[in-house]
Amino acid sequence: MSEAVRIAVLASGGGSNFQALVDRFQGPDSPEREVVGVIASREGAGVLDRARRAGVASAVSPPASTSDGAAIFLRRTLDEWRSDIVVLAGYMKLVPEAVVRAYRGRILNIHPALLPSFGGQGMYGARVHRAVIDAGVRITGATVHFVDEAYDRGPILCQWPVPVLAGDTPESVAARVLTVEHRILPAAVEALASGAVRLEADRRVRWVREWFETETFTNREG
Ligand code: GRF
Repeated sequence: MSEAVRIAVLASGGGSNFQALVDRFQGPDSPEREVVGVIASREGAGVLDRARRAGVASAVSPPASTSDGAAIFLRRTLDEWRSDIVVLAGYMKLVPEAVVRAYRGRILNIHPALLPSFGGQGMYGARVHRAVIDAGVRITGATVHFVDEAYDRGPILCQWPVPVLAGDTPESVAARVLTVEHRILPAAVEALASGAVRLEADRRVRWVREWFETETFTNREG
């Protein structure tokens, strides 16, 4: 049997998206994928407790004074874990260029809106959903994209829509979008791991096999 595809995660917060990856890929039903570790951008991030409970290795990036220092730490840790795929799951920092280059086409981010709207530096957490409500858009959603050198800008791999309803608050939109994130992120990682999608040299996303037709992912509860 071929070796498992090794998935590393970068996160800053509570880690519910990390948990969705663990639930999908860790365990006897998924011997060909493995969540090998999570790097938290700060001590005390909730994702570290989830990693401990799941028996997944973890590391905390030291408060690096230079972006070179951050790049060296990330490269060393990801290489040590022999990471095939890197997933940014609620990671608040910009990934250093050296890491983007080393993992180009194998590094994904999830964003809680429909990019290219409502993304970029400073657009995270409640700010995204506040901006969505203030703009009056009726549809928001979740986006998974390949990571490049800028925040939330890389080629889009997949998206899923979520309605904005009358009376919504940033919290209620966030909760509705998060449910979808937990489904779309593992599905996107599986698509990349299985070779159903890839990033071409010209930075276009190419679906090699149809995906939504065969995925069991739906936008409904349950
Ligand atoms: C998610 O909405 C993710 O898209 C965003 O930050 C949130 C993280 O949630 N970038 P969690 O830490 O995975 O629970």
